[in-house]
Amino acid sequence: MSLTQKEAWGTRVGLILAMAGNAVGLGNFLRFPVQAVNNGGGAFIIPYLVCFLLMGIPLLWIEWSMGRYGGRTGNHSTPFILDNMTKRAFWKYFGVFGIFTNIAVAAYYCYIESWTMSYVWHSIAGTFNGLSQSEVAQFFKDYVDIGKSHSGLPYEAVIFYVLCLALNTFILSRGLRGVERAAQIGMPLLILFGVFLAVRGLSLGTSGASAEVPNASAWDGLNFLWTPQFDSLSNPKVWLAAAGQIFFTLSVGMGTIHCYAAYVRSKDDIALNAVTSGFTNEFVEVVLGSMIVIPIAAGYLGLDWVKENAGFGMAFQTMPYLFEKWGPFLSAMAGVMWFGLLFFAGITSSLAMGTPWMGFMRDEFGWGRRKGAVTFGLLVLALGLPTVFFYQHGVFDEYDYWAGTVSLVVFALAETILFAWIFGIHKGWDELKRGSDIKLPGVYKFIIKYITPALLTFVFLGSLFTPLGNDWQAAMAGLFSGAGWPLDDSSLVQMVANSGLNKQIAAATDQAQLAKLQDRRFYINLARVLLTLTFLGLCALVYVAGLKRLKGNNTKA
Ligand code: PHE
Repeated sequence: MSLTQKEAWGTRVGLILAMAGNAVGLGNFLRFPVQAVNNGGGAFIIPYLVCFLLMGIPLLWIEWSMGRYGGRTGNHSTPFILDNMTKRAFWKYFGVFGIFTNIAVAAYYCYIESWTMSYVWHSIAGTFNGLSQSEVAQFFKDYVDIGKSHSGLPYEAVIFYVLCLALNTFILSRGLRGVERAAQIGMPLLILFGVFLAVRGLSLGTSGASAEVPNASAWDGLNFLWTPQFDSLSNPKVWLAAAGQIFFTLSVGMGTIHCYAAYVRSKDDIALNAVTSGFTNEFVEVVLGSMIVIPIAAGYLGLDWVKENAGFGMAFQTMPYLFEKWGPFLSAMAGVMWFGLLFFAGITSSLAMGTPWMGFMRDEFGWGRRKGAVTFGLLVLALGLPTVFFYQHGVFDEYDYWAGTVSLVVFALAETILFAWIFGIHKGWDELKRGSDIKLPGVYKFIIKYITPALLTFVFLGSLFTPLGNDWQAAMAGLFSGAGWPLDDSSLVQMVANSGLNKQIAAATDQAQLAKLQDRRFYINLARVLLTLTFLGLCALVYVAGLKRLKGNNTKA
């Protein structure tokens, strides 16, 4: 395909599946259940759904509109999609987030994706057969401890990581058709596997109770998640967690949706498409995502165990052990389905992360698909190898915090202001309505203009100044009594300064502990340097592209 020929989605179903595949990811199965459990189960659900309606849907509509609008003028990534909507030149640097986040998130996201590949393989090979609960957990610890290997394959984690990136690169090099194809295969299989495991989880009932855990019941897990508790509504901590989950799971605030939408034909519907892919994601998240890990783990190990151990290791450290209880055949099958499901969820998302970079380099520097895909793979490899090698030193978490959490909120807030206030809500709304297959509820015009930016501002300030112990009431009282606003170590302000870690270092008594913490600080700073360099590098490219455009215009004139 020549560069002048327009790339576009093949079919509407293909587009919706690709968009749903973009949204449905590891976040739905690994992040959601953990967030829900850690934030009080049923207490989490209401803020979560409210955030979906007041932030998720508006952002989906904003991003689809911006994307298709940009695509009309030949812009397929956020720097110049944003630039195209305003006269001020600095906006394109906000757009850098829409490429940066994708590369940085892909670096650690593909690492988890590569675990799922390896675990599918080990489920088939029967590696977990006969292992005790602690042995299965140890398997994972050894796996991420690079040098050690349980399977006799040295550097297994690195090998699978490189394989996973190679696969992503290969599919990306086929362009949108490749992405569409992957979604057409991956999404139906994912749902099929998910339904199978959910039915199995539900039908477990109390049959998994044992002498050690006599009152284990899968129902307890579900009840815990689905009994709404209204008192949480006044707790900002739960709201922040809910908002964060909505961001991550819908892939909003990342630039991927803009990019996908930029390839939608200018007269085609976006309003209904956006809602359809958003609701598909929510179905997979709240229905399938809550019916697998939590009920199965509660069914065998009891709800108390789940509450204490909720973490994303559960999926890798505990599930293979629990599957063993289903006999050799079913356990291998369940393993393939569970890790296969995670793999499909992961790859349809990581492919999406590759497209903004490719679209940008193609628009600005005339790069072909192959060159775009390969450089994306290499960039991710360079940024990702530190997470693979220094996983235990906190590099992974650092990427997740800055790229997978903070950047999303910053970018979402910026784009909402741009869309509703600078580009203008009336123009924006007309853009969304163009070719729409549904009648849009007018109240959303108001929501997008006032409510969504207000909520986003709250989320941003709340993360910037999280109060000590996440105790908002005490902090408020302190503020009014003149005692000030004590900051928690998890607040962005304190995170920048590494306060929590520095305190631990100051308090460390034994030498080994001290060395470990100092190591951690070193790797955390290394991660930050790498992320900053990536961001600045992208800014430089955007600057050069801007100059090129200026020159192009001058010669034309
Ligand atoms: N939404 C994906 C998930 O739930 C994550 C993602 C992030 C996808 C960035 C695309 C871009 O796992």
